[in-house]
Amino acid sequence: MKVRAAVLERFGEPLVVQEVDLGEPKRGEVLVRLRACGICHTDMYSASGVDPSGYAPCVLGHEGAGVVESVGEGVASLRPGDHVVTLFSPQCDECVNCRSGKTNICVAIREQQNAGYLPDGTARLSREGEPLRHFMGCSTFAEATVMPEIALAKVSEQAPLEAACLFACGLSTGLGAAMFRAPVEQGTTVVVFGAGMVGLGAVVGARLQGAGRIIAVDMSEQRLELARQHGATDTWIGGSHVVEQVLEETEGFGADFTFEATGNVAVMRQAVEAARMGWGKACMVGVAAKGETLDIVPRYLITGRQVLGASFGGVKGRQQVPELVERYLAGDIDVESFISHRLTLEQINQGFELMHRQDGIRSVIELPAS
Ligand SMILES: NC(=O)c1ccc[n+]([C@@H]2O[C@H](COP(=O)([O-])OP(=O)(O)OC[C@H]3O[C@@H](n4cnc5c(N)ncnc54)[C@H](O)[C@@H]3O)[C@@H](O)[C@H]2O)c1
Ligand SMILES: [Zn+2]
Ligand SMILES: [Zn+2]
Repeated sequence: MKVRAAVLERFGEPLVVQEVDLGEPKRGEVLVRLRACGICHTDMYSASGVDPSGYAPCVLGHEGAGVVESVGEGVASLRPGDHVVTLFSPQCDECVNCRSGKTNICVAIREQQNAGYLPDGTARLSREGEPLRHFMGCSTFAEATVMPEIALAKVSEQAPLEAACLFACGLSTGLGAAMFRAPVEQGTTVVVFGAGMVGLGAVVGARLQGAGRIIAVDMSEQRLELARQHGATDTWIGGSHVVEQVLEETEGFGADFTFEATGNVAVMRQAVEAARMGWGKACMVGVAAKGETLDIVPRYLITGRQVLGASFGGVKGRQQVPELVERYLAGDIDVESFISHRLTLEQINQGFELMHRQDGIRSVIELPAS
């Protein structure tokens, strides 16, 4: 079938919206008619060409939600009409990592996904017979895509898809870090560095876990105001003084949990140093640029702090994304307040410009029903 899609033709250039060919789903694959897709930093990072693991041409996008149109042979868990959220982090339940129960980092289809292909090593996307690579196993800046069954989470049909799509990456990453990876304990003091989509997700997650005090730190007053609406009890402007300020506010000990959601390694260091001696957990969620390292004075570890990290917030996608969407439907998470701009697929480059200017939390591409 023919679908409109936003293609990254060359690094550093605007995406080109055009018609491409999409093949039928093969064994274990599902064809999804996309209805909404958030724009995430990883899309922009890959498009810029700065990411050494990026490739072009490809169809970008990984924060998608849509409706199953057809399924390939052997697909038992999804049927046409099901509402799904796309997962760049799949859950096969069979690989050594999934079976351990200790991590959400499924290794079943990793190599092919990183190379831009579906698990059988081929692409369903093409142009004039030439294969076009998939991005993060998703390629959701398109009217439709084909994805592995293990990379789709079936969610409630009650959830509007333009809200559900935020659970495909940024929002779940922050929520999961606070609720599953750390996890935050009741009555504790939490510091969240960065109040973008990911940091705000961590603020919400900390609130849902019953944190006693949630300090949000950002450079933008506007974002701090949003953090307050979502449960931050204190909001501070960031800077080199923050560690000292946390110590002053915690009788010299530090915070029980800290989360880093800026991607800046200097802020990561602050997150480690602001964590409480004895038991503080510092959770790294932001993605640093390739080659950058996190400096930690070992004394911080000897005296009991723990440093953690999480991809996709530690969320086991197929199992836990539907549960998080239920919390949204129950009124626990105000997802609508994160959607700042609604764009058409044709306006995709405008979405990147908005993100570049830090205008709004999330721009969402809305796609017509058929
Ligand atoms: N681990 C994962 O699986 C995963 C998934 C999605 C995103 N991420 C990463 O999470 C990070 C945050 O993503 P986002 O979409 O929320 O980004 P964002 O750019 O919207 O938010 C980052 C925020 O950090 C703030 N900031 C900058 N410098 C600061 C400082 N010194 N102190 C405090 N705040 C500061 C900015 O003002 C901004 O509001 C990025 O690095 C992104 O790549 C990770
Ligand atoms: Zn993302
Ligand atoms: Zn697995």
